Formats: sequence, structure tokens, C-alpha cells
Amino acid sequence: MPVRSPAGLLHAVSPVDDVNVRLERLGTCYVAVATIDIAIGSHLVDRLVAEGWAVTVLDDFSTGARANLADAQSRGEVRIVEGSILDPQAIEAAMAGSEVVFHLAVRCVRRSLGEPLHNHEVNATGTLNVLEVARRRQVGRFIYCSSSEVYGNCGPGPLVETATVCEPATVYGAAKLAGEHYAKA
Ligand SMILES: NC(=O)c1ccc[n+]([C@@H]2O[C@H](COP(=O)([O-])OP(=O)(O)OC[C@H]3O[C@@H](n4cnc5c(N)ncnc54)[C@H](O)[C@@H]3O)[C@@H](O)[C@H]2O)c1
Repeated sequence: MPVRSPAGLLHAVSPVDDVNVRLERLGTCYVAVATIDIAIGSHLVDRLVAEGWAVTVLDDFSTGARANLADAQSRGEVRIVEGSILDPQAIEAAMAGSEVVFHLAVRCVRRSLGEPLHNHEVNATGTLNVLEVARRRQVGRFIYCSSSEVYGNCGPGPLVETATVCEPATVYGAAKLAGEHYAKA
């Protein structure tokens, strides 16, 4: 799964493999779950549980569904905190004891067209909220999931992360890019 590291580099490798190299003991991961057809978060939870991680999920279930976590819950330790990344107390509750944070919670691009302010609030301010709790808790590793929307309409041809200029064309893309910069700051 492509993810952006705090160093801003796009990795096509599995973040789970990367994390396992660095952490030897069983840790607790905090992730926000994505649950629609093209969703990523619930698959990440499945993979983490299969690899023996204890996982805490923070999700407000505004678009996601608890049912998508049922299989992972039957196979391993999955704690669910229902709450928003706009609520620092909910983030604190979810992140307690975590060594690694995967941040995937998002208001999707389709919703950015009709509700730009809320999209900014969740995707940019919400990301800063999660980062701030992780910073205070001195979480060992923070993995931010970005989007090719940060590049905007860059024309045909391959995206080259070291060369393609970020010119987001949507509020969603702009907020995801803000999240990248906050993660690096
Ligand atoms: N799906 C794609 O094609 C794609 C492509 C590139 C990057 N990404 C990135 O991957 C990540 C996951 O994307 P997805 O498509 O699986 O997302 P999704 O829209 O399927 O799921 C988002 C999840 O976040 C939750 N959520 C929304 N607002 C929240 C809030 N305020 N607090 C807590 N939880 C909240 C929703 O309930 C849902 O479970 C995002 O960071 C996205 O930018 C996705």
C-alpha cells in the first residue's frame, strides 16, 4: 500500500513489513478504519491482526461500518474506539499504549466538492490533531496515508514523486497535502 512516511517519501512497500523491521515485540497499533468497497483501513487491520499485532481502531463510523471489522475481531485483538479525530480526548483514548500509529481517517474526495470546510477540518485539522497527540505521547512511528490527489491534474505520464509538482485541484487534495506537510513539520 503506498504510504507517505513522516520524511515525505512515498513507499510502495508494505508499512507493516517496514514497521516489523523496527519493532521486535508485539505492539499496539492505532488505525482509523476505512470500510467502503475501495477502502483500505479494514484490510490493514486484517493484515496487522494476521501478523499478531494488537490493534486499536478509532473511527466515527460516519461512512465506515463496524461489520467490516468483525472478521479481524474474531481472529485477534481489535479494540474499537468510536469517536472523531476532531476530538482530542477520543484520540487520546485510542492512542493509549500505542507504539505505532497509522493515520487513514478521511473525508473522501467526492465529499470535498459540496462541503469544503468540513473536508478541510477532518483531513487537515484532524490530521494535525492526531499528530499532536502522537507527539505528546512520543509514539515511535507515525504513518500518514496520503493521496495522488496532492498532484492535481498533472497530465499524462507517470507521477514521479521527486519531480512532479504538487498542485492540488481539489480541497481534498489540498488538505491531504497539508497533512503531508504537518507530518513533516
Ligand atoms: N481509496 C483510494 O483510492 C485512496 C487512494 C489514495 C489514498 N487514499 C487514502 O487512504 C486513506 C483511506 O482511504 P479510504 O478510501 O479507505 O477511505 P474511506 O472513505 O473508505 O474511509 C474513511 C474512514 O474514515 C472514517 N472517518 C471519517 N471522518 C472521520 C473522523 N472525523 N474521525 C474518525 N474517523 C473518520 C470513516 O468512517 C471511514 O471509516 C485516506 O487517507 C485516503 O486519503 C485512498
